[in-house]
Amino acid sequence: MAQLSFSGGKTGGRLLVVSNRGACTLRQTPGGLEIIPAVSGLVSAVEPILRREGGIWVAWGGRCGQEPGHLLPLPEGESKYLFAEVVLSSEEIKGFYDGFSNSIMWPLCHGFLEKVQFEENYWQLYRRVNEKFARTVVKMSSHNDRVWVHDYHLTLLPALIRRQRPVLSISFFWHVPFPPVELFATLPWAGEILRGLLACDQIGFHTESYVRNFLQAVEEILRARVDYLNSTIHWGGRKIRVIAAPIGIDWREYLTLAAREEIKGKAEQIRLALQSDYVLLGVDRLDYTKGIPQRLQAFSHLLTNYPWLRGKVALLQVVVPSRVETAAYQSLRQEIEKLVGEINGLFTTDYQVPVRYLYRSLTRQELVGHYLAADLALVTPLRDGLNLVAKEYVASKARGTGGLLLSPFAGAALQLKGALLANPYHPREMAEQIKRGLEMPLPEQQQRLSSMMRIIREQDLEWWWQQVKGMSNNAEQPEVAAND
Ligand code: G6P
Repeated sequence: MAQLSFSGGKTGGRLLVVSNRGACTLRQTPGGLEIIPAVSGLVSAVEPILRREGGIWVAWGGRCGQEPGHLLPLPEGESKYLFAEVVLSSEEIKGFYDGFSNSIMWPLCHGFLEKVQFEENYWQLYRRVNEKFARTVVKMSSHNDRVWVHDYHLTLLPALIRRQRPVLSISFFWHVPFPPVELFATLPWAGEILRGLLACDQIGFHTESYVRNFLQAVEEILRARVDYLNSTIHWGGRKIRVIAAPIGIDWREYLTLAAREEIKGKAEQIRLALQSDYVLLGVDRLDYTKGIPQRLQAFSHLLTNYPWLRGKVALLQVVVPSRVETAAYQSLRQEIEKLVGEINGLFTTDYQVPVRYLYRSLTRQELVGHYLAADLALVTPLRDGLNLVAKEYVASKARGTGGLLLSPFAGAALQLKGALLANPYHPREMAEQIKRGLEMPLPEQQQRLSSMMRIIREQDLEWWWQQVKGMSNNAEQPEVAAND
């Protein structure tokens, strides 16, 4: 196994992706290094691009220690790109990851100000880890490489790299919502974060409203000159382009998986096991932004107010474990499990259990089997940058029937106009829309699926890559996001 000793290639021009979480988590076991695939929208979008383009992915591999990181060819056995592991100490994991990233940036960007813990110590460690990432990037890059930084964990990185690599092309993609300036300005370090980001050449967001929030933030907090018409910022003698480009998916992969006999068979098995006429599905990372308790309450409202549905409808809720060290996530898990128990205690009829709850991650094949088993997917976050589950579900169902209930607070709602909408904070509205989705005639389901599929095909992963790699001009920005 190679240690991190690679120095930038002589020819350059390579793609260097930098994010906190890479394509996999590494675990040192007595039998050797275990490579566990990571699950997130960021990974689903970026990994296929690196596989095709080649290059280097600099990321934390989830390991705690002081030793140098591994340099691994990935995927295993295929060697399409190099994974340059950054190792964090336990103090850094606490302050940078659990602290500043997950207990300040994450709740702030999603509008949960009451959950933000403004700790100076977290900030110090955030800076320290950004510097650590910067050292690795500088070591691995040469002047004509393209650096592509991702997400709220690494906002200081562009400026730290720029100091040592003044002509390097640096772009950034922000995967979560960018909050309104009134909210962002509560962050004591808002100015430093914006200055860090403005060392990029281009910054991408999922929607026009996040772009607008960002432009307002740099104008009001930094007093930077902003050209709203062309979506550019003039700062430090440079021009920074800001674009809206919602991530797309590789829809062909989902269509192909959905057509496989064994996956269709799995879907049948799931339906049989649920003993229900109707299957509702939720698939979410364990997170308070996803609205899982609110969804369970809406389901309870449905069974209370439409008693003839008892024994006929099941909610299959998959919760993928996440951020297990953070108190807010531990208490959320307890809250969900308590609600599941209460609903099942009240509404189990003739041993048909209304909520089936899985606390684990699924492989992509299993995921498609679950999508196929559902009559209606409930993608009802309280706030979500985009949400790829909604797109994956539609692509898996495109050749059949099925409904999608979406929260208007997910970025994907701007693109997927064929979905039913419901306010996740309003249990009655949610229950009524679930009922409407279950009663929807099959031709209407098909027509809505194909209208959503059209946009998923048009704005797929390749389209997204063309937007974010900086080849497109402002006139090519997505129409759907421009309506926001
Ligand atoms: C979101 C973020 C990603 C993050 C993922 C999983 O999708 O945008 O940057 O990697 O959640 O969270 P985790 O804390 O496990 O990396």
